[in-house]
Amino acid sequence: MYYPDELIEEVRVKNDIVDVISGYVRLTKKGSSHFGLCPFHNEKSPSFSVSRGKQMYYCFGCGAGGNVITFLMEYENYTFLEAVQALAERAGVELPKMEYSREAKEKANLKSTLLEINKAAAQYFYVQLKAGQGKAAHDYLTNRGLSEDTIKAFGLGYSNKYSDDLYRYLQKKGYTEDLIRQAGLISTDEKHGVYDKFWNRVMFPIMDANSRVIGFGGRVMGDAKPKYLNSPETPVFDKSRNLYGLHKARSSRKPYFLLCEGYMDVISMHQAGFTNAVASLGTAFTAGHASLIKRYVQEVYLVYDSDEAGTKAALRATPILKEAGISAKVIRMDPYKDPDEFIKNLGAEEFEKRIGGARNAFMFGLEVLEKNFHMDSPEEKTAFFQEAARRLMQFEDELERNNYIEAVAKTYRVSAESLQKLVTKEAVRAGMAKPVSRPKPAGERPEKKEDPKATAQKILLTWMIDDARVFQAIRGFITPEDFTTPLYQTVAGMVYEQYENGNLNPAQIISHFQEEEEHREAASLFHTRIRELTTGQEKERALKETILRVKENSIDIRAKELHPTDMAGLQRLMNEKRNLPEIEKLHISFE
Ligand code: UTP
Ligand code: MN
Repeated sequence: MYYPDELIEEVRVKNDIVDVISGYVRLTKKGSSHFGLCPFHNEKSPSFSVSRGKQMYYCFGCGAGGNVITFLMEYENYTFLEAVQALAERAGVELPKMEYSREAKEKANLKSTLLEINKAAAQYFYVQLKAGQGKAAHDYLTNRGLSEDTIKAFGLGYSNKYSDDLYRYLQKKGYTEDLIRQAGLISTDEKHGVYDKFWNRVMFPIMDANSRVIGFGGRVMGDAKPKYLNSPETPVFDKSRNLYGLHKARSSRKPYFLLCEGYMDVISMHQAGFTNAVASLGTAFTAGHASLIKRYVQEVYLVYDSDEAGTKAALRATPILKEAGISAKVIRMDPYKDPDEFIKNLGAEEFEKRIGGARNAFMFGLEVLEKNFHMDSPEEKTAFFQEAARRLMQFEDELERNNYIEAVAKTYRVSAESLQKLVTKEAVRAGMAKPVSRPKPAGERPEKKEDPKATAQKILLTWMIDDARVFQAIRGFITPEDFTTPLYQTVAGMVYEQYENGNLNPAQIISHFQEEEEHREAASLFHTRIRELTTGQEKERALKETILRVKENSIDIRAKELHPTDMAGLQRLMNEKRNLPEIEKLHISFE
């Protein structure tokens, strides 16, 4: 733990959740809550609610929720400590300077340690690039037209030819093999043992929106394969929730982003003054990327490669952007392969002209489509318009749809009226009722398999938190010790204490947990909804079963841990076991 609970609590209380979140999300007051569009998934009508009374937020759409600290951790991708520091600064609370041993720190917070390792690695690569052994790499970058300032601004580096020197360097700094592996920087094989993942490559540190190194891309200097090697996903590196160049683009003050495909494209564009360029990280563009972009701008210009793959990728990205409410335009780079080569050959001014001539993404899609049809054959031309009509059908808003119908009619010189009829016909044929398939929400994490015993504890705890009557009814049967999962036991202890003192304060309980995973898990306890059971009787039945399951498990576990000579303990357990049928007789009124 870093700071005492009282200090964390002071910071939390001095940062009103509605005020803080208002700085990120436009909120409107409705009843006792404030509502807005959820920043953690794509949505068009507000299901994100913030309660001033409870000092908690919750999204009915994607289930995100927690207190003011959780919000900053999720939104800014901060560690617990960073979130608390940011809030302390905001409220003018002085935090004591604390130095912790590396072991204590590692235990408290895996994420910040991995960030530390990444930073050390980036610095190491940077030093290598500037040293004698990095000359070839440095020449490579210079030959590709990068200035010294650009190399520095993007922290480019070099991983040299020794197979394990980064590993040894990081070990010397005190990091364990296990942690370096978790940072994605080493691999192991039987023959060679532990070796560096990146070897003789030009290194591109990947930074998140807050300029922290979260991973790396490494490029070969020749033609070897793979051209780029990337860090695997790690606890700090989520490829679908980060964009290369975002830490700079977010403060570029332009109302749109230039979205391209490659690291080098982003760097070239920034060097040429287009500091609003970003790229996805060697993966396809996802809904997660779209909602990340939506936090900063409402408009995106796609600057993908001119080849078929690039065109396809651009066409795949546009519906995802549209779904997130971002308008998309397409910029062509022909006759060059990509923005990097375009700028190198024609310069920033010509690039600026291409931005001015950007095409609407929908119209661009039709242009690409048109290439598949012989437009001088009446049959094929008809087929083309049928497909166009099907696409036009996707615009749910009538005014928008009509505007597009007009634009298409004008471009392809047919009457808007007959195109309109075709669209209606296609709509009828398709049954129209067909739901649009929506991209997955961004905040989704893969579900962990849960242990049924732990699940019972979680349900019971959630239930107690949700309904004080449940707590009152069962406090005589269940004690915090019956929650054998350590995190639930801690939460239960706090819940019991707060109820006894008459003031349940979920926001306070959540911030007790300073390690990310635990913090999230604790936060989730306070916004898990109990499945709606129809009758009070059903509820009562379900609750009794849950209590029994928790109690039986607790007796089991304590019996196993019992010392053979502990007679008093044995007696206690036997009494508890004998009392189990009492639970059956429990009456809890839910009416
Ligand atoms: P490109 O092959 O277009 O790369 O791949 P580029 O950025 O133009 O590279 P240069 O100019 O030859 O240096 C686009 C992006 O796809 C990912 C990288 O993120 C790259 O920037 N990629 C590509 C990989 O992850 N691995 C590969 O082997 C190739
Ligand atoms: Mn390139």
